[in-house]
Amino acid sequence: MKLLVVNGPNINMLGVREPEVYGDGTYIDLCNLVDNYCREKNIEVEFFQSNYEGEIVDIIQNAYGSFDGIIINPAAYTHTSIAILDSLKAVGIPTVEVHISDVSKREDFRQVSYIRQYCKKSIIGFGFKGYLMAVDYLVELIKK
Ligand code: DQA
Repeated sequence: MKLLVVNGPNINMLGVREPEVYGDGTYIDLCNLVDNYCREKNIEVEFFQSNYEGEIVDIIQNAYGSFDGIIINPAAYTHTSIAILDSLKAVGIPTVEVHISDVSKREDFRQVSYIRQYCKKSIIGFGFKGYLMAVDYLVELIKK
């Protein structure tokens, strides 16, 4: 089983950006956490982060035929990007949406998620642990 973890803009700034919202852990800490978790479960995993919408669309398109599941935190593009939604629909790979913070309790503009309609599940407000929950969910889903 091979999973792709995609993170959007400013996720590379974790640890520096708004620690009261996103915590103290860095992006590298996040990748190590997910990588170790997947290793224990014998799951192959790759990581991608970009601040550019088109690069995220490209990486999703390139995942076609190579990955069994996608875990995606499109960050601010969650609330704006039909292009990312369309790319997920195009490749048809089972996908889980993750948000570190509890977007449901934040500003009105964060209440829209364009990708949610495609995703099998949305995991919101569990911090970095949400990515591990997404791994578990996809493993169960893909096994079926
Ligand atoms: C985020 C929430 C988004 O609203 C925000 O733009 C982000 C991160 C989260 O993980 O909580 O950059 O996706």
